[in-house]
Amino acid sequence: VLTEPIVYEHVYLPIKDFLPEHVLILVPGGESAKNLETAGMIWQKLQHHTADRHSLMLNLGGGMITDLGGFAASVYARGIRFIHMPTSLLAMADASIGGKTGINFMGIKNQLGSFCDPYRIWIEPNFLKTLPQREYKAGMAEIYKIHILQSIRKINTRDFDEQLQISLLLANAMNYKDSVCKKDPLEKGIRASLNLGHTIGHALESWSQDKPVPLLHGEAVALGLIVELELLVKHKYCKKAFAQNHIRQLQKWAPALSLSKHDAEEICRICKYDKKNLYGFINITSIREGIGFSGLLNVEEKEMEDVLILCFGKKTKKK
Ligand SMILES: NC(=O)c1ccc[n+]([C@@H]2O[C@H](COP(=O)([O-])OP(=O)(O)OC[C@H]3O[C@@H](n4cnc5c(N)ncnc54)[C@H](O)[C@@H]3O)[C@@H](O)[C@H]2O)c1
Repeated sequence: VLTEPIVYEHVYLPIKDFLPEHVLILVPGGESAKNLETAGMIWQKLQHHTADRHSLMLNLGGGMITDLGGFAASVYARGIRFIHMPTSLLAMADASIGGKTGINFMGIKNQLGSFCDPYRIWIEPNFLKTLPQREYKAGMAEIYKIHILQSIRKINTRDFDEQLQISLLLANAMNYKDSVCKKDPLEKGIRASLNLGHTIGHALESWSQDKPVPLLHGEAVALGLIVELELLVKHKYCKKAFAQNHIRQLQKWAPALSLSKHDAEEICRICKYDKKNLYGFINITSIREGIGFSGLLNVEEKEMEDVLILCFGKKTKKK
């Protein structure tokens, strides 16, 4: 059983007597521990306890643990089976599904990794009871992204009902992501639609790392979705009313952000390094009302800067 200190205390200890006999592998928590050194610690421990091809790893934790544990298991002895037991909302709705595993390397997020499906995914929404509110809201942003993708394809035209039980919202988001990943496991087509909001989201996440309160992944995605929806309206991919309706909802989970012109320029510079880019243009995932995913949309740097300022520019006081 692989876990980290916070999850050890809140989840592992209460359930450990219900787990079969196992070896516990406790690694440091946080994104900074999702690296080769920690993976090495896991492999050493597996070897020390003579884990073999019949061994099974249980990854108990948030997305950091499911990514790291999935990666470590996928290469140990050319791959052993693993089960994800996600404990954060983001990991339940997103990170544990779709078979992407990975660690950060040389400062680049998820630079080393593999596509490898877990043997099982076990979801227990009760684990969310101890999850901090900020982490919970960050997970809601990814769940809402799925709602946008469904509503643009008219799969789900109902309003998003936040009051609905979290297990129902989760089941819908998980099933949708799972069905998209099954159609396109290696992200050659439709799976890229799940990157909606992520070009700008990732850039905001990286940009915020040296700020006093860095953005969480889901928070950055909520902000990225707002900016990308505005860009889609500008390019007439969707109507203003459609975008406005979703932006209003996203504002519930997006943290306050106030950008100077210099910040916007810096964020656009980071965007240019995104894996989705081609020929110096910034590419965002595009969706069209009534159609759904429609590939990538080229956006010019200046246009992106203007929309960032439109959405989150510093407000100057009127005299
Ligand atoms: N593989 C994928 O497809 C995919 C998709 C999205 C995100 N990710 C990855 O997921 C990671 C982010 O996931 P995350 O937000 O879950 O990060 P995380 O694992 O760091 O968890 C966030 C925080 O919540 C705490 N926590 C988790 N469960 C808890 C519980 N039940 N009670 C109390 N505290 C709890 C953790 O200790 C941590 O402090 C990133 O590394 C990202 O790259 C992967």
